Amino acid sequence: MTPDLMESMHEVRARHEARLAGQAGESGGDAAFGRLLHAGQPDFTQGVALYLDDITVSFDGFRALNQLSLAINVGELRCIIGPNGAGKTTMMDVITGKTRPDAGKASFGSTIDLLRLRENEIAQIGIGRKFQKPTVYEQLSVFENLELALKADRRARASLFHRLSGEQLDRIGEILTLIHLKGEAQRTAGLLSHGQKQWLEIGMLLMQDPKLLLLDEPVAGMTDEETERTAELFLSLEGRHSLVVVEHDMKFVDQLTEGRKKVTVLHEGSVLAEGRLSEVQANEKVVEVYLGR
Ligand SMILES: Nc1ncnc2c1ncn2[C@@H]1O[C@H](COP(=O)(O)OP(=O)(O)OP(=O)(O)O)[C@@H](O)[C@H]1O
Ligand SMILES: [Mg+2]
Repeated sequence: MTPDLMESMHEVRARHEARLAGQAGESGGDAAFGRLLHAGQPDFTQGVALYLDDITVSFDGFRALNQLSLAINVGELRCIIGPNGAGKTTMMDVITGKTRPDAGKASFGSTIDLLRLRENEIAQIGIGRKFQKPTVYEQLSVFENLELALKADRRARASLFHRLSGEQLDRIGEILTLIHLKGEAQRTAGLLSHGQKQWLEIGMLLMQDPKLLLLDEPVAGMTDEETERTAELFLSLEGRHSLVVVEHDMKFVDQLTEGRKKVTVLHEGSVLAEGRLSEVQANEKVVEVYLGR
């Protein structure tokens, strides 16, 4: 859960409360969703979840992204690797609306122009992002964190002041099992290990059932066992969600790609190589700029 998404969760809650209290005016209530509807629904029938075309981002003349093009298929699990400063996080910033590119196109599915949406709108149409540092509500229990994430989902807004439906309880139970925290449901989130907090945050993102999940260095700081379990978790999400995973941990990438999936190597803001992990690891250019260090 990103700080921004947390903020938007609060916004959604506040808007909903205002609406129920009959105070929602032109600028409150469903205004933001009205804009989304206007932008159309995402269309995944072409098989593409995300499409970046010729994206360039400059910071004071320095090109963090340089004509970057990339396509992620529906249900695909794609690992992105590359040296520090290659532009991996900047790419996620562009997809989530945090950074506006100077040039290029970015679409979600085949119809949604991401460059026309605001950050909270992008989160609401089904793109979830996990930053490196875990951000969960430390004071609340594991269960309450998931409950809050569920209620931030606009499709569940009607139930904000009601008890959770059986279906919603089932969904929370399902996610608790998936993220290996079933036995910790009533535990205060602040008492979890670093790895468990990361899983909880991923679980919070999953409560909103995002079509596309962006995960920036998800296993940094995890123990070997936690890393392995995280790989299993991501593999179980593949298919139902598209995942873009940025990582430096090659053992983890190897486990995720299962010897066959495509890996993308970024360098100086562009794609340097793409192919199976074993192929890019044998690529001289890749060894020179990254793996051989
Ligand atoms: N807001 C910003 N202002 C100026 N320069 C920036 C900004 N954000 C990123 N950069 C620069 O853009 C380049 C790409 O950074 P980015 O964080 O995307 O790299 P990365 O591939 O995620 O690296 P790492 O593996 O270290 O996380 C770096 O040189 C970085 O210093
Ligand atoms: Mg980064």
